Amino acid sequence: MSGTTARVSAAALARYVGSVDAAEHPVYRWLAGRIRAGVLDGRLALDATLPSERELATGMDLSRTTVGAAYTLLREQGWISSRRGSGSRLRLPDAPGRATAPPRAPFGPAGIHGWDTPLGADPIDLTTACLPAPADALRTALAGATTRLPRYLAADGYQPFGLRELREAIAERYSRGGAPTTAEQILITNGAQHALSLAVNTLSVVGDRVLVECPTYPVALDALLAGGRVPTTVGLHLPTAPVGGGWDVELVAATLRHSTPRLAYLIPDFQNPTGALMDTATREQILAAARSAGTLVLADESNRDLAFAVDGAMPPSMAALDDGSRVLTLGSMSKAFWGGLRVGWIRSSPASIRRLARARALTDMAGPILDQLIAVELLADPEPGLTVQRARLAAGADALLGALARELPDWRPTRPGGGLCLWVQLPGPFAAELTRQAVGAGVQLAPGSRFGPDGTLESFVRLPITADPARLVEAVRRLTGVAAAAASTPAAQFPAGWLT
Ligand SMILES: Cc1ncc(COP(=O)(O)O)c(C=O)c1O
Repeated sequence: MSGTTARVSAAALARYVGSVDAAEHPVYRWLAGRIRAGVLDGRLALDATLPSERELATGMDLSRTTVGAAYTLLREQGWISSRRGSGSRLRLPDAPGRATAPPRAPFGPAGIHGWDTPLGADPIDLTTACLPAPADALRTALAGATTRLPRYLAADGYQPFGLRELREAIAERYSRGGAPTTAEQILITNGAQHALSLAVNTLSVVGDRVLVECPTYPVALDALLAGGRVPTTVGLHLPTAPVGGGWDVELVAATLRHSTPRLAYLIPDFQNPTGALMDTATREQILAAARSAGTLVLADESNRDLAFAVDGAMPPSMAALDDGSRVLTLGSMSKAFWGGLRVGWIRSSPASIRRLARARALTDMAGPILDQLIAVELLADPEPGLTVQRARLAAGADALLGALARELPDWRPTRPGGGLCLWVQLPGPFAAELTRQAVGAGVQLAPGSRFGPDGTLESFVRLPITADPARLVEAVRRLTGVAAAAASTPAAQFPAGWLT
């Protein structure tokens, strides 16, 4: 369950529902439908309080009767609960025979597909978004690393903060990007996931609220939920341009103000899964709101180097806009180079890095030296490897977008400027059924509900662009075979009112 106590302002709700669709009469039904769709899409957070009827009527230039009728309909169908004095809160209707929201898809293909349909002979796994290594660049880096290794062999091999030369190389990259950084501000971890868990466990306690985007990176959600943190969601808009879109600053600021979460976990660069790239002004405004709320920002920059269709320079790292120690930046070699290199990092103040390093030693004394030396070599000359990876992503995006346009034209994919996947809006809330039927057709999918904490996002699937283009085209062909059947399967698992 999401633990937000956020209030959606009339202005934010009006912006989200858009202008009245004249074709959709009566207007109160249209308004109720838009609010319902917002909950299902994760853009309106469960538990959030709606504006009063009077505020929304004024904000949308509608009659109070119309808004009142929409709220009444939503209440009757179980989408809001109202208590005198505390307003109307968004919820999911109870399904017949079930008292709570549908479950969030759990981790891993076996979990996601909790059905026993056998996989075909040649399955295509679209549940993960990871590239193969840029083999030549990696071979060259390995050769360089082995020549560096002998220098370390005479010592004990434990480097609790990470190799000095790697910390310096990473610090130097931040400094060049406008965030002056010293090696003392970098802690090397075994990947960004390790960095995230370490930061969450060190900087918050069980029961603390953590603001997350909805949808977001599912394994981050797994870590938060497993650790007893309470995700407070802010819905993202579907980005319509490579830069900007995605975040509604006012909604993020209001959620920070009302929930005062301990941490905010954000993915500003090619957000996983929407691909949204946060523009500079939004970064500044969210940081200002986090400062006022006393919230620390965990900015996950794992995808930052993966721009393949962004004109001009990338917006600055959030670290470059931080005027205190509000931001902890998480980085990784996994996405830009190779997941088999278990090398990530945290950038923060030297004092916070010392605290994190002490906490890290409780479960993991230090990272592997050879992997870190390979990272040193790759970062000394990153362009050859990055060029290969960006070209792969551009080819994957092209192939997948082309195949979807040809074969499934009523599916609406994002067109990201970078990152590892497309976030695809289906023409109805049938992602779970599609995922189930796709297994039989030889495709493993990640349904939208995996990317939020509370079982919503049923109208979405994430499709990675990391596989070989021909395999992506084949995957779409297979999905085309089951899409219509999945869309028309009676939605027994959905609550009443879900499809209307
Ligand atoms: C946004 C994001 N953060 C973190 C990770 C985990 O990366 P790592 O392999 O560095 O642990 C991923 C991997 O998919 C990711 O997409």
